[in-house]
Amino acid sequence: MQNVTLAVVGAGVRGQQYAALAVASGRARVVAVAEPVPTRRAAVAERYRLDPDAVFDDWAALAARPRLADAVILATQDRAHVEPAVAFAALGYHILLEKPIAPTEDEALAIVTAAENAGVQLAVCHVLRYTPLTEKIRAVVDAGRLGELVSIQHLEPVGWWHFAHAYVRGHWRRADLATPMLLAKACHDIDWLQYVVGRPAVRVSSFGSLFHFRAGQAPPGATDRCLTCPVEPSCPYSAKRLYFACLDDPERERWPLGAVTDTPTVAAVEAALREGPYGRCVYASDNDAVDHQVVTIEYEGGVTASLTVSAFTPMADRKTRIMGTRGYLDSDGETIRVYDFTSATEESIDVGAGTDASAARGHAGGDGGLVEAFLAAVSAADPSLIKTGPAESLASHRVVWAAERARLTGTVVEIR
Ligand SMILES: NC(=O)c1ccc[n+]([C@@H]2O[C@H](COP(=O)([O-])OP(=O)(O)OC[C@H]3O[C@@H](n4cnc5c(N)ncnc54)[C@H](O)[C@@H]3O)[C@@H](O)[C@H]2O)c1
Repeated sequence: MQNVTLAVVGAGVRGQQYAALAVASGRARVVAVAEPVPTRRAAVAERYRLDPDAVFDDWAALAARPRLADAVILATQDRAHVEPAVAFAALGYHILLEKPIAPTEDEALAIVTAAENAGVQLAVCHVLRYTPLTEKIRAVVDAGRLGELVSIQHLEPVGWWHFAHAYVRGHWRRADLATPMLLAKACHDIDWLQYVVGRPAVRVSSFGSLFHFRAGQAPPGATDRCLTCPVEPSCPYSAKRLYFACLDDPERERWPLGAVTDTPTVAAVEAALREGPYGRCVYASDNDAVDHQVVTIEYEGGVTASLTVSAFTPMADRKTRIMGTRGYLDSDGETIRVYDFTSATEESIDVGAGTDASAARGHAGGDGGLVEAFLAAVSAADPSLIKTGPAESLASHRVVWAAERARLTGTVVEIR
């Protein structure tokens, strides 16, 4: 198969990003879209010159038709993955599925089982497995340069404004609207740790809470909206400062501003901040997403890892330290430093261009790598080209669910 045909289901930030990358790769064509928001639907229809018969305002309308494409890019919100995934699998579509697979294990199993029963390929968008950084770290570990891997310390610095955008004001602010923060944000990190360690996790513990973004923390004089707040200029979480500064920067207009408004003008941003969720004071939202969480994991054979996820950082690349019996690796996302204990020397490995791990920049090459792998797998009918298939993705999701149970119950949770 030369040119994979794609239907975009959910043409929001992520759906449009994957569609653009797929077409830019020269290996795919977008032939259909399902999206309820008229501006987004029209943008995709126009950009890919879609036949009007292949433009739908709901995934169910597309699924009511015989199969129109080889694969779907399924990028609806977290709680809207199960039904379309099961329906499109049954119709014979291969599926590029945004993470998390689904909020609960039963729902995720329903998707995985549907894909297996239909014999279609399923790639979960754990984009970190596909970055040049990860390839280089895996090459060091797999070559045995660190000896036996004993422990990993990993930090996901979400970033103060990014956290306020997505987890205080935005889609992922409440577990009942989306998923717990750990699943929404750090399923990537727990999946990445599993990929690097290469052993099954056996038990986890976790602590974390909503420390800061709640009513009692508001500075004196704060009002419910940034546009009218007298203390807004001195607030680190000012929505005015964040979103107006995105205007005239195409990358930032796409993200984070694209979640706030589809119209990048001063008037549209002002209206969105006056009326919509993104103009709310961070101390007066309806959020419950924890703003800091630590997870400790024990893997088979006694290997350990600790993960810290925090809102209270600059938005930066993940930081990782890997400790082995013969060496030590330290990565800040741009440079990997490898220390050899025998020679007491250090090698510095430059990760190269495109290390910016933000969503706007395609997760440091991860988005592009994932799309390439998925298209190659579909073209060659070879699911082994996908690094984030159903089995490994379900296994790392299980660690996330166990960690969240550990946090909520204050216990150490064993993983089946
Ligand atoms: N892999 C990553 O790193 C990464 C990053 C951000 C978000 N995500 C995940 O991607 C998914 C989408 O996130 P997003 O930021 O693009 O959200 P978004 O809200 O921008 O996009 C979702 C789209 O789905 C559309 N939609 C709603 N109901 C629909 C229906 N019935 N049929 C078809 N489309 C429908 C919405 O109108 C919206 O345009 C989420 O699951 C999210 O957690 C993954």
